[in-house]
Amino acid sequence: MYADVRPSDTPAQELRGSKGLIISGGPDSVYESDSSRIDPAILSQGSAVLGICYGQQLMAHELGGHVRKGTKGEYGLAVLERTQPHALFAGLNGGSQVWMNHRDQVETVPDGFDVLARTATCSVAAMAHRDRPLMALQFHPEVVHTPQGHQILSNFVFGVCGCNQDWDPRDRIRPLEAEIRSVAGDRNVFFFVSGGVDSTVAYTLCLRALGADRVYGIYVDTGLMRQGETEYVRRLFAQLGAAAFHIEAAEAEFLSALAGVCDPEQKRHLIGEQFVAVQQRVLSTGHFLDGRWILGQGTIYPDTIESGGTARADVIKTHHNRVAGIQKLIESGRIIEPLSSFYKDEVREIGAELGIPGEFLHRHPFPGPGLAIRCLCSEAEAPVERREPGWLLPIRSVGVKGDSRSYHAVLALDNLSKDEIAGELVNRMLDINRVVGVVKARAPISAMRSTVGSLTRERLERLRQADAIVRRLSDESGFESKVWQFPVVLIPLGLAGVPDSIVLRPIHSVDGMTAQVVRMPDDLLNQMADELLRVQGICGVFYDLTHKPPGTIEWE
Ligand code: XMP
Repeated sequence: MYADVRPSDTPAQELRGSKGLIISGGPDSVYESDSSRIDPAILSQGSAVLGICYGQQLMAHELGGHVRKGTKGEYGLAVLERTQPHALFAGLNGGSQVWMNHRDQVETVPDGFDVLARTATCSVAAMAHRDRPLMALQFHPEVVHTPQGHQILSNFVFGVCGCNQDWDPRDRIRPLEAEIRSVAGDRNVFFFVSGGVDSTVAYTLCLRALGADRVYGIYVDTGLMRQGETEYVRRLFAQLGAAAFHIEAAEAEFLSALAGVCDPEQKRHLIGEQFVAVQQRVLSTGHFLDGRWILGQGTIYPDTIESGGTARADVIKTHHNRVAGIQKLIESGRIIEPLSSFYKDEVREIGAELGIPGEFLHRHPFPGPGLAIRCLCSEAEAPVERREPGWLLPIRSVGVKGDSRSYHAVLALDNLSKDEIAGELVNRMLDINRVVGVVKARAPISAMRSTVGSLTRERLERLRQADAIVRRLSDESGFESKVWQFPVVLIPLGLAGVPDSIVLRPIHSVDGMTAQVVRMPDDLLNQMADELLRVQGICGVFYDLTHKPPGTIEWE
């Protein structure tokens, strides 16, 4: 079997003969003129077609059904009630939970179609044509929060389209090594490694494919890393057999480039540019410019989707390895990204096959821009405002609603209520995208203000200390292994003398695309909050109660 990802407007002619086509979701609306379109002929040339989310709306719209324009949308879990049997639903057992993330929805199905399922708020959660192989789902079968989704997709591929499974998902390393050798040719590869799983696995693949003397690793100490990280990375690469490994000290230049900058995207851009500047310097001093070297990167598939790298996905956050400077290297073909079609869990499996220690592979992911995007900044003082049932904090964070980016205020509650309440509040209050509850604080929320704070050494050190406390206690208690990632965020909210607060954001995820809040045992949380409040300058400790969507995992 051969699978491919194509732009939505690929001419039907080029897709003729395909066994099956999937029209995927996206942030579009059929009512916007610049939205993705399909060549309608793909719906009538015999291939089976499955529409997902916006794909369902597009299919309905093209075939004469009616799509209702939504304003509020539906984001989160729903219960699927099946009303008609269909091959897509063959062999399903267990829960009927599905994940919804949309604004518009199909109201009337096109002629010849039946409604296959509904949810409490969506009357057409699945539909199919009676005679032709056309079918669609409003919910997302591809995310883990739709537990039966994998079975539904398998039913489409094997049952409806009649494909055979003629590949072995475990046999990935040899083809990857062969590809690395072919892309590199007689050139050597240099990597800027971060100590994260992705760049380490990509580096180790290149090390195996090309040999230690042809792969050079450079770790840039940006001053934005966690406590003890540089030493950890030094030891790890020695253990992996890296022959050429260099640590470039660059804290001063990163901090001076970021001085006074508050906007999250601007931070990412500056960090990306700074990386390129450091890179250029290393390139010239290390003689990497003589044409015998190319750049290796650990970019994985979700990085490219979330940066709008696939032509139509909306830009949610610009990942630093896709900013303009690096784009130039990509365009000139001097780049190798062996993991660019894999999800995180697959990258871990590949790492295990390569013999990289499990303890390292199960380390939580850590974003390239480091603590910079976990250290929120503010240019002005402002009070909090009463907004039932809590307080509107004068602090904005990034979120994602219906696949598009939002940058909204945060609602703080006086207690740690249930996280379902957070989802409901975000859906209802359009000007917030995140809800936190206070764990402990030196003052009531009503007395707190946003304070002026930028990316200074002092604030970064404050965050580093807080993060180290959280990691130590999570590790000792075993909580660390129950979460997929645990960002610790410093927000400029407090009082004179204690200008900042900490937000704990432990989440569960499979691939970072969606995430669920994980609640911590009370005794651990109390101990953590007590220790955090002893860090100089900390006013309060909050707990993020927002799933992704609508809140992204990181705050910026
Ligand atoms: P969000 O915050 O978008 O995060 O829900 C999804 C995953 O991506 C990581 N992340 C980044 N990684 N550069 C990176 O290399 C970035 O700019 C960046 N922003 C977010 C985040 O830590 C989470 O695992």
